[in-house]
Amino acid sequence: MATSPISFSPFVIGTMRLGAWGAQMNTTQLEAFVEGCLDLGLNDFDHADIYGHYTTEAEFGKLLKQRPDLRQKIQLTTKSGIKLVSDNRPDHHIKSYDSSKEHIIASAEKSLNYLSTDHIDLLLIHRPDYLMDPHEIAEAFDQLRSSGKVLHFGVSNFTPAQFELLHSFTPLVNNQIEASIMHLNPFEDGTLLQCQKHGIKATAWSPLGGGTIFQESDDPKILRIQSAGKAMAKKHGVQLDQLLMAWLLKHPAGIIPVLGTSKLERVKDTMKALDIQLSREEWYTLWKASTGEEIA
Ligand SMILES: NC(=O)c1ccc[n+]([C@@H]2O[C@H](COP(=O)([O-])OP(=O)(O)OC[C@H]3O[C@@H](n4cnc5c(N)ncnc54)[C@H](OP(=O)(O)O)[C@@H]3O)[C@@H](O)[C@H]2O)c1
Repeated sequence: MATSPISFSPFVIGTMRLGAWGAQMNTTQLEAFVEGCLDLGLNDFDHADIYGHYTTEAEFGKLLKQRPDLRQKIQLTTKSGIKLVSDNRPDHHIKSYDSSKEHIIASAEKSLNYLSTDHIDLLLIHRPDYLMDPHEIAEAFDQLRSSGKVLHFGVSNFTPAQFELLHSFTPLVNNQIEASIMHLNPFEDGTLLQCQKHGIKATAWSPLGGGTIFQESDDPKILRIQSAGKAMAKKHGVQLDQLLMAWLLKHPAGIIPVLGTSKLERVKDTMKALDIQLSREEWYTLWKASTGEEIA
């Protein structure tokens, strides 16, 4: 297996719910959260230009401005390419995707400014743009790389074919995909196989299904996962969330979950997932609970 040119901490910290789209942390709260994550050895923070309707990067940047010493301890990912309709972007009339050279460079420049940093460690194209031109994207990436503004590039939510096309024009180091016991597609559609083949890191967003697994529900899939998961968690003497993280971690692609919690205690708890060893039969028991079908 090829080796990846970028390494991540065992879990990436997602920022989507830290600001206006969730916990609305002030700078002091954010500082405590970031420092707590760093104390656990978690130094990867995942942003996107759109989070908090284009405000969360700037909230994080306020902290980095106040505490410039933190920047060198942190690896920053951000994303570009979704255009949201927002009061903060009055020129966007409908939600759309834009992976033009002009948009990627302008968006990266804005992210640098909002995050108060001179470089982004990893820039991802947030979603596949049906009008994407790999020549243009490669040109944008080359320009950002040669100016030292972005160190590595990747994509998010790309199918294997979309990834293969762009990767043949410009080196990609990451595909950030939705993967969890609630969302099994990448295990079956070749996405994880491609990561293994190229030594590309797969990071998994909504690793706990966006929290749906913990909610009261009458969805049979959630009820099956809760029932099988809770029994197995009890057997291992762990929590359901830890068990479901361990389920993702067992895959040989070396999936790195992107955590969505805004609670430091939950981040701490998640670290215990690294010590849980699931057997193959246990892994398939949870798979079967998710699909509701016998293993073929
Ligand atoms: N590339 C993309 O297209 C894309 C899309 C979506 C997200 N992302 C990235 O992925 C990150 C994670 O996504 P996500 O937030 O959907 O992940 P997630 O971890 O699956 O879901 C987080 C939600 O689950 C709740 N939760 C976590 N543990 C819990 C527990 N033990 N009991 C009850 N509730 C629990 C959290 O609430 P508390 O805060 O109360 O713990 C939060 O509301 C985002 O921050 C973002 O960086 C990327």
